[in-house]
Amino acid sequence: MAENRKKAWSVSEPIDVKPRGQASYRIYPADSFDDLGLRLKEQGIESCRVCVVTDSNVEKLYLQDVMNALRMPGITLTSFTIPAGEAHKNLDEIRKLYVHLIEHEFDRKDVLVALGGGVTGDMTGFAAATYLRGIRFVQIPTTLLSQVDSSIGGKTGVDFDSYKNMVGAFHQPSMVWLNVSTLRTLDEIQFASGMGEVLKHGLIRDAAYYEWCLDHMGEIEERQAEVLKEMVVRSILIKRSIVQKDPLEKGERALLNFGHTAGHAIEKLKDFQLSHGECVNLGIVAASYISWKRKNIPEEIFYEIRDMSVAFGLPISYDGLEPSDILEAMKKDKKRIGETTRMILLKRLGSAYIDETVSNEEILDALRSIRYEG
Ligand code: GLY
Repeated sequence: MAENRKKAWSVSEPIDVKPRGQASYRIYPADSFDDLGLRLKEQGIESCRVCVVTDSNVEKLYLQDVMNALRMPGITLTSFTIPAGEAHKNLDEIRKLYVHLIEHEFDRKDVLVALGGGVTGDMTGFAAATYLRGIRFVQIPTTLLSQVDSSIGGKTGVDFDSYKNMVGAFHQPSMVWLNVSTLRTLDEIQFASGMGEVLKHGLIRDAAYYEWCLDHMGEIEERQAEVLKEMVVRSILIKRSIVQKDPLEKGERALLNFGHTAGHAIEKLKDFQLSHGECVNLGIVAASYISWKRKNIPEEIFYEIRDMSVAFGLPISYDGLEPSDILEAMKKDKKRIGETTRMILLKRLGSAYIDETVSNEEILDALRSIRYEG
């Protein structure tokens, strides 16, 4: 019977990630930083230097707590703060971090800790992947987006000129510490941005999870601790199921880019004034529109996807941009050219596929449909 069936997940058990051909690591869902030091020790992080990398916003909120949790015999602690914001996700800041590590004599057994959102995690991971040809790093994501998405799976990198995530490396963390209580301090836009990725996980992989999110909208918006924890854990399990099989994005992992082709283009053309998750949601609405026009999903499901994202505080239209400019930026992104564009489309609610045949006209039609005409 359904109610007697054992749940495939638990909100308090550690989650092991075993990416094919890559180092394994453990994710700890938690409500505080209390046992962080103990768990690091269990993962073999002791008798070494540790540099906590954070940004100028998160520094004020959590740096002291994390430094206190890491103050243990044998650990020499330093910290490094990056100015907050995507504009600083570049090689200049990485260079400053390398200088800090050299000045503090970090060697190959030493460890970086990324404390913050996706930008901090990606940059710290990239520095860890490249410093001395690779040192260990720990993810302590403090935003919804980084907890459900960017801290898992080993993608690291920086932007280069106006190209997003153009320079990077796959480098798996040694451990991920998910203190879900940090979600309570997130502003509305950052929270909504993470919800874009949460809904994406349901749309591409698990219709029941998507419906669960809609059914628990009130509790999610009130940020009820147990509901948030369940949501974060279920999202991570979806992401894990994909990145374990295809850690280097040779195939299936591309499904996680649902909404990202148009989303990245809008993010870039808007000069990063909209958050990543907001832009991804615009891309999700556009890709769902194409999925509907191709009769993969019925009209009412398209409108449900669109309208439910509004309820979670996400935008469903853009202004100030020409659809043709977005199309051009989509094709330039990571050098895609040609008459068709590779996009992730929905086969049905809860199932996505990679499509190489999406025509320019289909994309322009979708982009026109989400343009604000107010
Ligand atoms: N954020 C997409 C991925 O990790 O592949």
